[in-house]
Amino acid sequence: MKTIKSPKSMQLLSRRTGQTGKSIGLVPTMGALHKGHLALVERALKLTDFVVVSIFVNPTQFGAGEDFSRYPRTFSADRKLLAELGVDSVFAPSADQLYPADFETYVAVEKMSQVLEGEFRPTHFRGVTTVVAKLFNIIRPDVAVFGRKDFQQAVVIKKMARDLNFDVKIVTVPTVREKSGLAKSSRNKYFSPEQLRRAVVLYDSLKMAEKMIKAGHRQASKIKSAMKRRIDQTPGTRIDYIAITDEELNELKRLSGKITISLAVWLDEVRLIDNISLNLGK
Ligand code: PAF
Repeated sequence: MKTIKSPKSMQLLSRRTGQTGKSIGLVPTMGALHKGHLALVERALKLTDFVVVSIFVNPTQFGAGEDFSRYPRTFSADRKLLAELGVDSVFAPSADQLYPADFETYVAVEKMSQVLEGEFRPTHFRGVTTVVAKLFNIIRPDVAVFGRKDFQQAVVIKKMARDLNFDVKIVTVPTVREKSGLAKSSRNKYFSPEQLRRAVVLYDSLKMAEKMIKAGHRQASKIKSAMKRRIDQTPGTRIDYIAITDEELNELKRLSGKITISLAVWLDEVRLIDNISLNLGK
């Protein structure tokens, strides 16, 4: 498995690989890999001939006061895991290789980036779409794999790829969870065992919402209030949002069709997100 740091060398390797007729799969990550990432890599290995995993803690998607500097960085362990899985190449550029001092070009999916996460992290998706667009240009993948855990991110990236005619298929993979139901996340590394137990309330509230919907409830406000009550009972929580949307991120009042329930909740000093999707038919 080759580790490549320079964007030019990565570009060269990708172009040469493409010329041999091999399909290229890309799994963009910020490292600190866990089983959720490995499921993305496994999917890419199934779908394509040559898999590149990028590891880059992208500064432009972190807002002022967010956890950029303390975000977990575990490069050697990540590299070992990826080599064991049979990944072909790791792309791990430095920040100044991707963002030279006079960098000033950004990619933004305007409307979709402003709702849900965007209300609380106004520059986040601009950073994500900019770095993913750069990765698409450098690696030219046929397939790029993202997790459903970051539901809005996947929707925004699909929109960007369509709007800008990137010749790439965006594939999403279901969230991998701990036995407790807590979604796997690199940020879970911040928690003590006691905090991990409290963090399960996000998934519990989603499962409670699912139960209500299966029992026939269709009014979004009722379901969201019940979720809020459940979360508020857990010490140290503060809700940023609970939203029930369609696949284009429009908030729903009455539920029908394909819906996603998303939430962002602070647990002490750490902000967690999670979601589930359901298909209610007509
Ligand atoms: O999901 C992530 O880890 C990041 O947002 C991504 C897609 C790698 C872009 O930096």
